[in-house]
Amino acid sequence: MIMSAAQALIRLENIAKHYQMGGETIAALNGIDLTIARNEYIAFIGSSGSGKSTMMNILGCLDTPSFGSYFLNGRDVASMSESELAHTRNQEIGFIFQSFNLLTRATALQNVMQPLIYRGIRPAERARRARAALTRVGLEKRLDHLPNQLSGGQRQRVAIARALCSEPSILLADEPTGNLDSATTADIMALFDELHAEGQTLIVVTHEPDIAAHCQRVVRLSDGKVLSDISKQNSQQNDQQKNDQQKNAEELIDV
Ligand SMILES: Nc1ncnc2c1ncn2[C@@H]1O[C@H](COP(=O)(O)OP(=O)(O)OP(=O)(O)O)[C@@H](O)[C@H]1O
Ligand SMILES: [Mg+2]
Repeated sequence: MIMSAAQALIRLENIAKHYQMGGETIAALNGIDLTIARNEYIAFIGSSGSGKSTMMNILGCLDTPSFGSYFLNGRDVASMSESELAHTRNQEIGFIFQSFNLLTRATALQNVMQPLIYRGIRPAERARRARAALTRVGLEKRLDHLPNQLSGGQRQRVAIARALCSEPSILLADEPTGNLDSATTADIMALFDELHAEGQTLIVVTHEPDIAAHCQRVVRLSDGKVLSDISKQNSQQNDQQKNDQQKNAEELIDV
């Protein structure tokens, strides 16, 4: 996809992540170049061990690359101080995990309010925002439930509300439906589709082709490299170009 640097929300330049394991070097990521614009809806797919979670951790500023540069909103993440990084993680990034990662002794409302504590928002405003986020995901009647009093799909909705609460630039979801049945998976994906339609940028890691089919762009990783990067819009554009070319050819024949 061609876009100017100003449009790019994320720009990865020759990103590599190497791990040293007993004299052996494992290249979890190996020369990734990728640009992601605001409001894209992307799936990362690839076999187990291909580097998907490593990629998400770098995008979410939870981990740093061994080589290469990551520009977020035009800023080189490597140049950020610890406090700037913490601020970026808290305000720019919303993370959703396969295992929900909720506090087990805290209610849905308390779970969603928690990241706002670090942002110095007063309790009444925290509760107001958390209630609004839980209402957004359809859980307004479950505010006081503990995670073990919620279904799997509802737990994931709490995690999504928690991620949305800080109005992040990017929502990163690593196999968000990996622990859910197919009906609940469809509900969660419908919610992601709505968020995308409202302007949210979403990056989803998945093993399931049905989930990748929701996304507008599918990036396949293999051995830490981008094996393919297919954008539906591009293929539609290509179809349009093909139609135009065919029309032109037909017109030429008519003459
Ligand atoms: N902390 C680590 N130390 C050493 N090697 C690691 C570490 N984390 C990941 N790896 C290796 O890096 C490679 C990529 O791992 P990663 O977790 O990104 O894969 P993945 O695509 O998310 O796989 P899955 O689909 O199973 O979740 C794997 O070969 C893995 O063994
Ligand atoms: Mg993984």
